[in-house]
Amino acid sequence: MNLKILVLPGDGIGVEVTREAVKVLRHVAEASGHTITLSEGLLGGIAIHKTGTPFPEETQKLALEADATFLGAVGLPEFDSAPPEKRPERGLLGIRKTLQVYANLRPVRSYKALIDSSPLKNELVDGTDLIIVRELTGGLYYGTPRGISGTGPEERAVNTMTYTRSEIERVTHMAFQLAMKRRKKVTSVDKSNVLENSQLWRRVVIEVAAHYPDVALDHILVDNCAMQLVLTPKRFDVVLTENLFGDILSDEAAVLAGSIGMLPSASIGAQRPSGAWVGLYEPVHGSAPDIAGQNKANPLGAIGSIAAMLEYSFGLTAEANAVYKAIEGVLDSGRVTADLKPKGAPATTSEVGDAICQAVAVLESRK
Ligand code: IPM
Ligand code: MN
Repeated sequence: MNLKILVLPGDGIGVEVTREAVKVLRHVAEASGHTITLSEGLLGGIAIHKTGTPFPEETQKLALEADATFLGAVGLPEFDSAPPEKRPERGLLGIRKTLQVYANLRPVRSYKALIDSSPLKNELVDGTDLIIVRELTGGLYYGTPRGISGTGPEERAVNTMTYTRSEIERVTHMAFQLAMKRRKKVTSVDKSNVLENSQLWRRVVIEVAAHYPDVALDHILVDNCAMQLVLTPKRFDVVLTENLFGDILSDEAAVLAGSIGMLPSASIGAQRPSGAWVGLYEPVHGSAPDIAGQNKANPLGAIGSIAAMLEYSFGLTAEANAVYKAIEGVLDSGRVTADLKPKGAPATTSEVGDAICQAVAVLESRK
């Protein structure tokens, strides 16, 4: 199989974690007899610096041509006071919309080896295995009207939270189909006690759920969900929610995994005739400018995103599982970065990448 992949390292630690992710990808492809055609593009702050825009047309073209896109991270502090349309993050929103990847899957699980890395009590986190399905191309992130107008005390800012029935339906189907392959439970998160938007959300979710009689559905208000995630995380299987709620809850859920550096994500939407998903794969952590360039960022979220790419966009389940297994092996070996609070000296970003490649090689040799 030939895998045609666009790589967008982006900004900050995006560059370092991408290097390790690509290293692992090349390694797995070689070990399993697949060829890869990689192209590299600009997105985010680096794209603004080099071309004047966060999502250059060239990147757009490359993304549409690729089978899958890998992204490191975007965001640079020098753009902190720039208006939204001139910020690196706008590039990310642009590529998500261009690829129509409306469902962002963010799995969160506790690893035995990391049970002490979470500040939460061991018995509370142990056994956590949930997946957040975050709607990714609608809601407040894209709604219009938006903007800041007026002056003085009348200066006013507007954002619009908007969802159509069909936008809710498609992501809900995705969540239920995932649940069918898991523990068959969907928890839909909303704020229907206040927002009309959430009232429509809940109504449509209930309607779609009727197509999946084997899956249990419950609803939870977003404020309570934030609390339950750290009180009773094991009650969750598939957590379905809109864009902004999903953004916030997934950072919170990262505490369960031990570090946000652990979380991978897969954003999918359209399906090719072969059944493969057109996908955008990115770790959940951001560009972390404070530690950028120091070779200490955790690359496992990025490497896990490569595994997700192999699984969803290429249907290479065995190869994906080899990477997931390698991640567990490396965690068990204790060769992890500082964010995971290792007992000995922390490993560097590139050492963790190398360790994953070695672990994959060992699995491969046992075949
Ligand atoms: C994420 C990030 C992005 C988001 C930012 C960088 C625009 O926080 O992927 O969670 O809010 O979606
Ligand atoms: Mn986020």
